[in-house]
Amino acid sequence: MKLLKIGMVGLGRLGKRHAENLALRCPGAKIEAACSLDPVERAWAKTRLGVEDLFEDFSAMLESADIDAVFIASSSAFHTAQTVAALKAGKHVFCEKPMGISVQECLAVEEAAEVRPNQVFMVGFVRRFDPSYRYAKEMIDAGAIGEPFLVRSQTVDLDEYAAFQVGFVPSSGGIFLDMNIHDIDLARWYLGDEVESAYAIGGSFVHPEFAQVKDADNTCALLKFASGKMADLSVSRTAFHGHDTHTEIVGTKGILKIGMTPAKNRVEIFDLHGARVPCVKDFYERFEEAFRAEAMAFVECALNGDAPIVKARDGTEATRVGFSLAESFREGRIAIVRR
Ligand SMILES: NC(=O)c1ccc[n+]([C@@H]2O[C@H](COP(=O)([O-])OP(=O)(O)OC[C@H]3O[C@@H](n4cnc5c(N)ncnc54)[C@H](O)[C@@H]3O)[C@@H](O)[C@H]2O)c1
Repeated sequence: MKLLKIGMVGLGRLGKRHAENLALRCPGAKIEAACSLDPVERAWAKTRLGVEDLFEDFSAMLESADIDAVFIASSSAFHTAQTVAALKAGKHVFCEKPMGISVQECLAVEEAAEVRPNQVFMVGFVRRFDPSYRYAKEMIDAGAIGEPFLVRSQTVDLDEYAAFQVGFVPSSGGIFLDMNIHDIDLARWYLGDEVESAYAIGGSFVHPEFAQVKDADNTCALLKFASGKMADLSVSRTAFHGHDTHTEIVGTKGILKIGMTPAKNRVEIFDLHGARVPCVKDFYERFEEAFRAEAMAFVECALNGDAPIVKARDGTEATRVGFSLAESFREGRIAIVRR
């Protein structure tokens, strides 16, 4: 069996999950080396996954490790430089979202990927690998709801993570680039069109600390696409029931609704308090299966020479819209995304 030797970059909150998926649940993948700034995380890679070739420095790993690919889940500010360096070194690259922390950075990745068609580059828009989101896309492509013209989508996190998120704002780019970017990608994917203008409002209704870092804890955004199609996207960091990502696609002949109730499983509770369902707690619990499918898709593309379904251009365009929404929110006016 062909084997893809991978250098894992970043072993934090998400990097550890990716590393476990690649090492334990992806036939054809082997984590040959790993790098992290944190010695405790490097020790984890050795004891949990048996990785012997461990680095603090990414460039040192790229130079000396025996790897065919890198899988990047480092802090967002390093994504572009690490991706471009790895592509130039002849590696296949998976890069977590965002692809870069400016549109210019994303364009640099796009350029580096485009001139190397024999290397796989894939950006991590995980929802595209969720079975329900994929099924909806197949239905739309088969004409099941006629012509889709409106996407309503939301990303909602539990309030208990808000304090952590405040500290994350400077490196993540804020609510539109960190959270809304997934909904933006879905809207582009389902509507098959590019965004022309964007408008966002929001506020720090529960946690004033977000306003202090020029961000928000709840936002609403409207996108107008070149064809006139629409998206209505919202984000909240202050939910109490669970992680609540759901999406609706409205077409000329029908509507698809995906995950409108964030149920943990099929159990329903009927008791003194009424009827209710337990909910998923965080993004990983909701998208666990999709994360595994995403990692497997990258490995298969790299081993078989197939083109990934998420391309560098998707990373650039979603980032472009995310920045436009942040600009609209800051300046209180409609932002022109493209003319
Ligand atoms: N797709 C999703 O739904 C999703 C969800 C969460 C996070 N993310 C993305 O994943 C990335 C990581 O997020 P996280 O929550 O795991 O962050 P984290 O802060 O928990 O972990 C960051 C990791 O990167 C390492 N690192 C930082 N700079 C490095 C460098 N220069 N060289 C090598 N390693 C370096 C750190 O040592 C750490 O292991 C972020 O870009 C984030 O946007 C995506």
